[in-house]
This record gives sequence, C-alpha cells and structure tokens, in this order.
Amino acid sequence: MTDFANRLIAWQKVHGRHDLPWQNTTDPYAIWVSEIMLQQTQVSAVIGYYAKFMARFPTIAALANATQDEVLQHWSGLGYYSRARNLHNAAQTIVDEHSGMFPQDFDTIQTLSGIGRSTAAAIASFAFHQVQTILDGNVKRVLTRHFAIAGWPSTPKIEKALWQLAEKLLPQSDMVAYTQGLMDLGATICTRSKPKCTTCPLNESCLARQQNLTTILPTPKPKKSIPEKNTTMLILRQGNEIMLIKRPSSGIWGGLWSFPEYDENTLTSNDYATIALNQFGISATADSALPTFSHAFTHFKLHIKPQPLTITKQTLQAREAGFIWLNIEDAIGAAIPTPIRNILLYLHKHPS
Ligand code: ADE
Ligand code: SF4
Repeated sequence: MTDFANRLIAWQKVHGRHDLPWQNTTDPYAIWVSEIMLQQTQVSAVIGYYAKFMARFPTIAALANATQDEVLQHWSGLGYYSRARNLHNAAQTIVDEHSGMFPQDFDTIQTLSGIGRSTAAAIASFAFHQVQTILDGNVKRVLTRHFAIAGWPSTPKIEKALWQLAEKLLPQSDMVAYTQGLMDLGATICTRSKPKCTTCPLNESCLARQQNLTTILPTPKPKKSIPEKNTTMLILRQGNEIMLIKRPSSGIWGGLWSFPEYDENTLTSNDYATIALNQFGISATADSALPTFSHAFTHFKLHIKPQPLTITKQTLQAREAGFIWLNIEDAIGAAIPTPIRNILLYLHKHPS
C-alpha cells in the first residue's frame, strides 16, 4: 500500500465526511444517482434534490418506468439537464439489457449513458469495493499540487499521465475510505483557493507546498472569450394563465417547458405583440418589458428580456400541439429551467 493511500485513508476515517445521504449504503442505484447529481453541482445544493428524487424514484425500475417529463421535473433547478436524460436512458437500458440489475463489470458500467470512467470508478468502489480510481476536478487539483504537475490538467497528455499516476497510488483494500478521502480532501482541505496545508495529511510529501506553488497549481484553463446571445421571452398571459412551449429534446434545456422565444431583444414591446400575432395567431397587447437579465451557460452567455403580453381575444381554446397553458403556481412546479422559474416567481409576486 502506498504511503499516499495510507495517510489519506487514516485521515478520511477521522476527519472525512461520513453522514452524507448517499454514504453508508452499497446500493449501486443510490450511489449512481448521487454521483450524477454531484458531477457539476456542490454537495450543499444536491442534498435537498437527492432526497426528493430518491423518494419519487426509489429503484432503477421506478426511474425507468417514469416519463421523461417527470424525471426532468425532479431535476428542475439542478441544471445540466442532459444528466437527467442520460440517467433516465441508462435506467431503461439496465431494465432492458441487464435484467434490471446495475452491472458490476467495470467496462459495462461505462457503456451506460452519462457514466464516464471517473463516475464508473466512484460507483464501482463505493458499491462493489472494486480497486478503481476516480479522477474528477478535485482529484486533479490534489494530484497536480502534490506532484507539482504544471499545465492545464484536462489537456489529453496531462490527463493521461494523471490517470496513470492515480492508478499507481491505489490501495488494495479500504476503497470506500480511499475514494471518499480523495473527494473529501479536495472539498475541505486542498481547496481551490487557500488550501489548508497545515492540517493536510499529505503535507509532508506535497511538492507544491515545498516549492510554494499552491497558488499557481493547478494551471488554469486557457481563456477563450465566451459568445453572447440575446433573446426575448414572450410571456403570453390571460388572467392567471401563461403559455409554455416544450423545447426540443436535445440542446439547451432539452425537453423542458419554457416561454416562446424571439432571437433578438432590441425591439419595442409593440413589435413583440406583432410577432405573437404572426407566429402564434394570438392577439395581445404589450405590457412593459421586465428588466433584461443574463444567464451563463458553459459555452455562452444569454441575455434574456422577458416581455409580458396580455391576450385580448379569447384564444385559450386554440391550444396548439406543443403548447400548454398553466396557471402560474402550477407552472412554477413544472419541469422548467431556473431562469424561467425566476421570471414566474417575479410575476407571481407582481400580478398585473
Ligand atoms: N462528489 C462526487 N461524489 C461525491 C461523494 N460521494 N461525496 C461527496 N462529494 C462528492
Ligand atoms: Fe493540497 Fe496543501 Fe495538502 Fe499539498 S499540502 S495536497 S497543496 S492541501
């Protein structure tokens, strides 16, 4: 057993986290759901969603049998919705191709939608005590610092070296404490800024600490300028009801309900009333636009102008395919992206 692993395991048992909702179980389903939620989201944000998700979908079969809309509804607010669509797909694959049992073979686990090598390793070590290494952003930070490796850790060459290094460090037993120890150290001690080196179990051998490199490692990703886009969201309302449209199943907010959009946000409110008439055949008068706000995606920034329009004719009967009309309270609880929910909450507080 490597010294690195020994010290990390001993530290985890005393100072690590032991009471997270997805710990103290070997149910691969419960562990899998937590690992997917935690992929791009902090523990503190995941905890509430996790309990509700597991209560509604307690087994792989329950998840596989649910509709995509219901799965997305329980993911609504967590972001990165392809994670939910992949989770749902993979549950159906497990039912169809693996008799409903989560596969134990490490390569087979990685064939499931949304499960890459690191997530597969987390599940395999927590649920099946397999000797496989994780390598997420936290672990990359710990390794690049401890071994003083320069260069952005996600360049293919450096990533490959980090996988090999991480494999060499593995213990032969105690994989639950070891894997959790890597996560806990990265989250609580070897943090992005101001790492707590004085209390770190690896400080005696850490090269970044010896060479005073902890503020410059890991090397940051080379900066690219992020494109910006503008959109106007048309909030068609009649009484307490608003119109939502289902987004295409792939792409941004795939499969979620949202407002109809117009790809531009510099027109006058009256112009948007004309667009509503031309595009949806709905006669409406324009209300004042709400303040424009921005939402950051990974690859671009979206400037959103919410434009309320009050319907003048009784057009509610003309319910077209792909649209739904909901009262605001129901819409807030539907499978919608967070910026849409924020607009609805605003409208709820400020009824016209
Ligand atoms: N991040 C990813 N997996 C985690 C886990 N099991 N516990 C805490 N944080 C995590
Ligand atoms: Fe990270 Fe500091 Fe520990 Fe090195 S000594 S692994 S930089 S916390």
